Amino acid sequence: MSDRVRTAVMISGRGSNLDALIAASAEPGFPARIVQVLSNNPEAAGLARARAAGIEALAVDHRPFKQDREAHERVLDQALQAARVELVALAGYMRVLTPWFVGRWAGRMINIHPSLLPAFPGLHTHARVLQAGCTIHGCTVHWVTEGVDAGPILGQADVPVLADDTPDSLAARVLQAEHRLYPQCLAKAAEAVRLRRA
Ligand code: GRF
Repeated sequence: MSDRVRTAVMISGRGSNLDALIAASAEPGFPARIVQVLSNNPEAAGLARARAAGIEALAVDHRPFKQDREAHERVLDQALQAARVELVALAGYMRVLTPWFVGRWAGRMINIHPSLLPAFPGLHTHARVLQAGCTIHGCTVHWVTEGVDAGPILGQADVPVLADDTPDSLAARVLQAEHRLYPQCLAKAAEAVRLRRA
């Protein structure tokens, strides 16, 4: 479908959510088309998998930019513009974005976070959930705004916390839920972008 929303996925590592998004976008009628994968980490495993799926995949190492995060993001932004990207999906992109980049992609960028936001923003969510004695945990997809792990929620999925869970066993259960949730939410976001085109 030629009117599918041109989507970039930004990753830093493993890329299992990227895989789920690539698989979903291969379904007929899926409203987003993944046209580009960007990473700040040249070693990110997801880059090779994207290339194997025929998707342009670029690494822009953040390290040479030192403290100048915006300069790094300007290079990413140029790549996004060059690929005529309309929607950005952050999938395990482990760098906090500057207000400049967030503002530039406002209403056009989504993120997945491994907790039921607004509970447990930030890192190490699974260990913190266990520490707090929660019986329910899960994941959230949200539009990206300036606050870290804030922004309007597109969808959530919950999973039970079991008595013998470790952070790793809980992470694995949440990750399965992420792989179901993210494609649904990407579709929702792409429909929103498509409506705004008109
Ligand atoms: C996921 O748990 C995601 O929610 C978090 O980082 C992890 C990325 O995993 N933001 P992967 O790279 O998609 O496998």
